[in-house]
Amino acid sequence: MSGAFDLIRYRGGEAHVEDVALPRIADALGTPTYVYSRAALIQAYRRFERALDGMQAAICYAVKANGNLAVVRTFAELGAGADVVSLGEMKRALQAGVPARRIVFAGVGKTRAEMDAALDAGILQFNVESDDELKTLAQAAVARGDTAAVALRVNPDVDAKTHKKITTGKAENKFGIEISRASAVAKKAAGMRGIAFHGLAVHIGSQLTEIAPFRRAFERVAELTLKLRAEGIKVTRLDLGGGIGIDYGERPTIALADYARAVSETVGNLGCQLVFEPGRALVGNAGLLLTRVVRVKDGATRRFVITDAAMNDLVRPAMYDAFHAIRPVSDPAGAKETAVDVAGPICESGDQFAAQRPLPPVKGGDLLAIMSAGAYGFAMASTYNLRPLPAEVMVDGARFAVVRPRQDYGEMLGADILPDWTAPALGAKPPKARGAA
Ligand code: LLP
Repeated sequence: MSGAFDLIRYRGGEAHVEDVALPRIADALGTPTYVYSRAALIQAYRRFERALDGMQAAICYAVKANGNLAVVRTFAELGAGADVVSLGEMKRALQAGVPARRIVFAGVGKTRAEMDAALDAGILQFNVESDDELKTLAQAAVARGDTAAVALRVNPDVDAKTHKKITTGKAENKFGIEISRASAVAKKAAGMRGIAFHGLAVHIGSQLTEIAPFRRAFERVAELTLKLRAEGIKVTRLDLGGGIGIDYGERPTIALADYARAVSETVGNLGCQLVFEPGRALVGNAGLLLTRVVRVKDGATRRFVITDAAMNDLVRPAMYDAFHAIRPVSDPAGAKETAVDVAGPICESGDQFAAQRPLPPVKGGDLLAIMSAGAYGFAMASTYNLRPLPAEVMVDGARFAVVRPRQDYGEMLGADILPDWTAPALGAKPPKARGAA
């Protein structure tokens, strides 16, 4: 898998994504701006596909990682399906041209309205996570004379060895049906009106950097499959989720070939169709966040590099203490590095991209690239501190396109409404008296 640094190359003293110099994008659009490489997206997808060569596999891109229309469209054109967890994501996948029959709907909190819409669309499968959800889904299907295709998501109680906030396969997590009850629930599902039981789903967490937890989880799914078959229940599809960690430049991660081997050695000879839901592995290292240094501030004990990007643009460091490599856009060409804190302008000490990180000398006005920001970057952005959502750009060779403009202040501020009992704001023109000339 390509690493944190592979997205940029220095040419003529400046960092380029494909053949576009990053200052060109900053000049045209300002900063902070997310920059995605179409070639890197395609390469990541092709690598994933190639690793699974020979398996009966469907790749359903996890839209949550990066829901930009142009990104989802890129994968749709390559034949990808989609893993969605909300009505909005389903609409986005369809809008991008992903056929409904390649969409799986996951998540613990699907509402009846979401189920109705997904049944309407005719999606491939619902990954069901509880008895109550199964009941509601059956009711929704029966009410429209339809049948819902279902995989039961099991919770295998396996520690994914990743950050606790993105661990999903431990008994104490809210996800899936505990594996000891799964066969009873599967039996119930298999006999339920409105439900077509197809198989099992599992996803134990995100940014896994070791193969062993995957292997343990898949082994449990394989055991359960055999047990269900012994009880006369047909299992034809296994959804193995996502979770493959990328190289952020901090520690090594899983090689796709090892992941594929773990898959084929555990569930490979069960004759099931396999569904994969990679998110980060397809987009993480295909994107960066371009930001400009506002100023450099020397504190009592540290030097702070203050950027115009903040935790509202990229929350991963604040939320998960995540590591993102930071590269100067001007070629540092061997300049001596000193440790600095890179922080945004938001009024929280957690608004920090890096602590005591060695960087070559930077000054106000310089551009920096925050690497590996293609996954869960813009997707988790907010307008906290009333900062407009950043722009997004896709590069293709020597050209680039704005795939989402920066949110303008009018749009951001104009969305709120004063109650009609409020006196007009100071300085606002008083409303014309009714009947006045
Ligand atoms: N399938 C299911 C059921 C999931 O819950 C997820 C991610 C995926 C697939 C895709 O996982 P991936 O291949 O991207 O690891 N915001 C966090 C990550 C949250 C992941 C949530 N579920 C972060 O920035 O690290």
